[in-house]
Amino acid sequence: MGVSRGSGYGAGPGSRHVRMLIPLKAGEPIYGQIYRFVRAQILAGRLPAGARLPSTRAWALQLGVSRTTVLQAFEQLAAEGYVQGVTGSATVVAADLPDSLGRTKAADGSGAAQAVPALSKYAARLLAETEHRPPDPPIAKQPGHVDFHYGNRIAIDFPHRAWHTLVSRRAARAVPSGAPGGGHMALREALAAHLHRTRAVRCNPAQVVIVNGSQQALDLVTRLLVDTGAPVVIENPQYHGARQTFRAAGARLIPCPVDGDGLDVTALPRSPARVALVYVTPSHQFPTGTVLPLARRLALIEWARARQAFILEDDYDGELRYDSRPIEAVQSLDTTGRVIYMGTVSKALTPELRIGYVVLPQSLVSPFLAAKWVADLFAPTAPQMVLAEFFRAGHYDRHLRRLREINARRRGALMTAAREQLADRVAIGGVSAGLHAMLWLPTVPIVELPLLVECASQLGVTLYPVTPYYLGQPTRSGVLAGYSSLSEHEIREGIALFGQALRSRW
Ligand SMILES: Cc1ncc(COP(=O)(O)O)c(C=O)c1O
Repeated sequence: MGVSRGSGYGAGPGSRHVRMLIPLKAGEPIYGQIYRFVRAQILAGRLPAGARLPSTRAWALQLGVSRTTVLQAFEQLAAEGYVQGVTGSATVVAADLPDSLGRTKAADGSGAAQAVPALSKYAARLLAETEHRPPDPPIAKQPGHVDFHYGNRIAIDFPHRAWHTLVSRRAARAVPSGAPGGGHMALREALAAHLHRTRAVRCNPAQVVIVNGSQQALDLVTRLLVDTGAPVVIENPQYHGARQTFRAAGARLIPCPVDGDGLDVTALPRSPARVALVYVTPSHQFPTGTVLPLARRLALIEWARARQAFILEDDYDGELRYDSRPIEAVQSLDTTGRVIYMGTVSKALTPELRIGYVVLPQSLVSPFLAAKWVADLFAPTAPQMVLAEFFRAGHYDRHLRRLREINARRRGALMTAAREQLADRVAIGGVSAGLHAMLWLPTVPIVELPLLVECASQLGVTLYPVTPYYLGQPTRSGVLAGYSSLSEHEIREGIALFGQALRSRW
């Protein structure tokens, strides 16, 4: 067996025994390293039962350590039953080790054979869909590079002072025990009142359930309503997190086109057959940013009623509206208890809080609470208590007003720069609400979008193609521009660079 001194791998002395390399790291006890190395080889099956180890003298010579050090490692291995005969003439791998040992004990990254899981059908569908996800933003921001990633936040937008005052006040009190599965009641009450006032949502606090981000609401609603093969209608293009959730559940997805007014309700399936769920983002369609007009909202409710479908209304960023008052939620127009409304504080505060909420029709409250309990018992209470107080003290409203002002300025910078720099090469859409806009690019063929994005990236700006948000072939060419993490100056710079890339060929 070969050994080497110092860090890294080294070749062994070429003994006639099993020949291997041993990686030694500086600063760690040699005895422990020899012990772990031999054990890993045994567990991985590379040293089979009965295999003879080199003598302690050979190891000691090779490593330049005392025989006692090597003996110590061997004795430890013998004490644990990995080897036999340490003090005799030869040390051999124990004969009675079970075959399964390697697979159960080799979690130390030693290169041992890893068990191949027999993945469920759910997992297989989940992973297949994962390949079509839009790219994540780079973890480290390159200095000077302008990244229009949708969803990025900027630290100065968070209401640090008010939040931290409430956190320290809350920390001074004991955490209450027995949090209800639906969440901290004061927060549910605050949300019920807030949603009624701002979005006309009608509910009592018991219908509001706090979830770990609204993504969890998507998951749990799907588990409750969507069996394998069940029809689910989605907007096209759509939020990929919803698509992935439905796909993993084995739903039969029915994409419905989106036009300048959001979901085209005339294109909904005409068949009277039952539909499990229709998922919509009516206040700011994701990703196109269109707003569903009242007549379409009413038509959607009627369509769903006739097919016994539930409507899942995702109001992810509707609070951030710029030009006009928000249109009332679809939930507020429904009289038949078939709208599930979900929202989040991820856009207005931060996604790191993982606080979302769902307003359930009465008929779904108990099943949803049961699903939530099985998933994770309940959402963490401490941040909910802080958020409840944040609402009660009026901070949330004040913060929203400030956030709207800041983002209205960013949005203005984007629109002006796009008009000046991109002129008729762009049609800007989805700017009435939220934290991103669509830049439709009529002169860029859809297949050339990756090339344009690459060109822009070379110049120092990243925009995100709309392509991965479509189920099937995209019908329009364009890029998403999230502006919530950029200064007005960066936005102008970024659009100027993007214009340069666009003009270079398109
Ligand atoms: C349209 C839409 N819905 C839902 C979510 C989930 O948000 P969260 O789980 O952070 O509440 C997101 C996240 O970006 C989103 O874009």
